[in-house]
Amino acid sequence: MPKSRIIVLGSSNTDMVVQTERFPKPGETILGGDFFMNQGGKGANQAVAAARLGGDVLFVTSVGNDIFGKTALHALQKEGVDVSYTRIDQGTPSGVAVITIDRNGENNIVVAPGANGALLPDEVRHVEDLIQAGTLILMQLEIPIQTVEHIISKAAHRGAKVILNPAPAQTLSQNILNKIYLLTPNEEEASLLTGIPVHDISSAQLAAKILVEKGVQNVVITLGSKGALALFEGTYIQVPAQKVMAVDTTAAGDVFNGALAVALNEGQPIPDALTFASQAAAIAVTRLGAQSSSPYRNEIEKYYQTTQNQI
Ligand code: RIB
Repeated sequence: MPKSRIIVLGSSNTDMVVQTERFPKPGETILGGDFFMNQGGKGANQAVAAARLGGDVLFVTSVGNDIFGKTALHALQKEGVDVSYTRIDQGTPSGVAVITIDRNGENNIVVAPGANGALLPDEVRHVEDLIQAGTLILMQLEIPIQTVEHIISKAAHRGAKVILNPAPAQTLSQNILNKIYLLTPNEEEASLLTGIPVHDISSAQLAAKILVEKGVQNVVITLGSKGALALFEGTYIQVPAQKVMAVDTTAAGDVFNGALAVALNEGQPIPDALTFASQAAAIAVTRLGAQSSSPYRNEIEKYYQTTQNQI
């Protein structure tokens, strides 16, 4: 049976990364360690994660007519991602993210959206015909919110399912909340969206309940080293995090979302899909970079075997 296509709509960035012992205080200059450039952007990272894990992925984005945009598209194509619906902006540069990673693998990220910010509703009209009953669409919030809302409305009208990863955090309109199939915030995003501090499983349970009461169909809250908590079709499901040595947490959430989309699109039951996603994210944090850290399907299978053999 041919795989049904996952449509990822979102940002593409070039990540400029410096490793450092610790983050500087405001106004402070510190000497860091190595610098590297790497393909990033929450949308592109999720598209690559899904493709590496076996998804048939169409990625809709906007890049500038510059070397960063060309390199990003080339890298996506090499991963088998369809980028034929990309918008090339003639007047705005491609998105860039400036990232620092400390000795614990934690990161600070500032994004200059560039052409991502020009992916307005009029620029995605040509994608609308691809949205049909059952189509799975994965989005984040590094493109204009009106585009996210526009696609969500089209999807709801046609019976497609939208997974929204609300990152970076911002408030969401009632119209968006009512039409989301699955919302996947992290602790910080869940706190902003619910007004309660989310820091562990029990606060995540409360936040998930609030989000469902606000209109979202299903919720998965990622809690980093504390795992993930889902409220799916009325049932709470908790998945522990895999124990790994964190080198760089950048894009761990993106890998989780890309993997979750693939597993759900394959019809995996939600507990299996959550385990698959958390194992993929765990592998990603053991490696440097965003797309460079994203695992392939056979790596997850090997990881499963190794960890199960250890039990
Ligand atoms: O989620 C990680 C990503 O956030 C980075 O790749 C960076 O580009 C920003 O979009």
